[in-house]
Amino acid sequence: MKQFFCLETKDLGGSEVELFGWIENRRDHGKIIFLDLRDASGVVQLVVLPGSKAYKTAKKLGPEFVVRIKGRVNRRPEKMVNKKIATGKVEVEVLELEIISKAKTPVFEIDKDTRKVREDTRLSFRYLDLRSQRMKNNLKKRQELQNAFRELLLEKHFFEIETPYLTKGTPEGAREFIIPSRLQPGKFYVLPQSPQQFKQLLMVAGFERYFQFARCFRDEDPRGDRQFEFTQLDIEMSFVSEEDVLNVVEEMVIKAVKKVYPNKKITSLPFPRLTYKEAMRDYGTDKPDLRKDKSAEELAFVWITDMPLFEWSESEQKIVSVHHPFTAPKEEDEEKMEKSPDKVRAQAYDLVLNGVELGGGSIRIHKPDLQKKVFKILGLTPKETEEKFGHLLEAFGYGTPPHGGIALGFDRLVMLLQGEKSVREVIAFPKTGDGRDLLMGAPAEIPEKQLGEIHIKIKKKK
Ligand code: AMO
Repeated sequence: MKQFFCLETKDLGGSEVELFGWIENRRDHGKIIFLDLRDASGVVQLVVLPGSKAYKTAKKLGPEFVVRIKGRVNRRPEKMVNKKIATGKVEVEVLELEIISKAKTPVFEIDKDTRKVREDTRLSFRYLDLRSQRMKNNLKKRQELQNAFRELLLEKHFFEIETPYLTKGTPEGAREFIIPSRLQPGKFYVLPQSPQQFKQLLMVAGFERYFQFARCFRDEDPRGDRQFEFTQLDIEMSFVSEEDVLNVVEEMVIKAVKKVYPNKKITSLPFPRLTYKEAMRDYGTDKPDLRKDKSAEELAFVWITDMPLFEWSESEQKIVSVHHPFTAPKEEDEEKMEKSPDKVRAQAYDLVLNGVELGGGSIRIHKPDLQKKVFKILGLTPKETEEKFGHLLEAFGYGTPPHGGIALGFDRLVMLLQGEKSVREVIAFPKTGDGRDLLMGAPAEIPEKQLGEIHIKIKKKK
């Protein structure tokens, strides 16, 4: 196993080290050869002197060759220090050099900003794109942020619990991905649009505080800040009011952001709050961008509260939930539910950052009768309600705490904090705008025999 990462050489002046990594580039200066050696930690400059044992091999090196070297870490003279890299105060004089793997000429330059390269090329060769410093840094920051949130949640006695991916549909307003069952012919699983029902069932189960970095699946038209599969920081709490959820989430977001991005400026603390009505009246949108200078360093969070519970859907020609059907109405509006559903406000809230909807949540209905009433307003017959949500209504009959929560779009958060324009820049293996995985070649056809096993027959196009 390798003992040292390139980054560690900065503190190893005077020692001999063995390093493993990729040759980022080679510069022949007169007789001296300079190499940039890159590994997961960063880059360090190597020097190969003429007449050294390594010299002949060094002449054969091309970009992205994988090598092992032994060398001496030398401190650079003051005027040779490279302030652009963390190891800029040292360089490694190569004493031994071994080529472990040769590399074909990469299809794009990895040491430059790869955003200038065509995106389909980057996605087809994602493993090369991920070698670039910017992409590494995006994923590193993603991990740091995830760790920061996890630490804060665990401190507050949250349970981290995984919920299933093969499940039954749960309404979040998008189309669902469907998985045929082999053992139960003609039946299907659905990939979850979110763990909504499971997290509520965990509250019935008495865990009281839950979180999960949950993968969610939505068969929607992917756009810049949307993917078929994406990650939510999903949270649920029992015995809380709307005010409690907002406060806990706000405190955590501030702490996590300050820890990982100490130089960013949160424009307003505490986060301003606007009712849905105020936001629409003053900004004409429920996702206002409250930054003063519109710079990437500014973080303008704002809570949008008091959303309507229902809205009329033109495309579906029926009443639908604005958030989801498990959202509780404001207590004072409950009596208007049947006569004027459009006037009922929900105990729902969105967190908006720099004009992007970062997260949404609500206090949930925990009484079976109220939940049934909502399903009725949404046009479900008692039979449909029983088929789709009988399990939840049944569970609510066994002692259910009042509960509520939120889900933050984690990819979107990292995207905004990293100053990127697309969530694809902060996901290791994302899909294209039209939902293809160019690296693996998905979606793909399946052999007929395999389709037969899952009781599926493809209709031939006429
Ligand atoms: P909602 O549907 O509002 O709420 O989703 C929460 C957040 O998830 C992010 N998001 C997405 N990110 C990337 N690609 C997508 N396709 C995508 N869709 C959504 C957004 C959004 O604000 N179960 C509820 C939460 C709750 O009530 O607790 C839910 O999923 O940032």
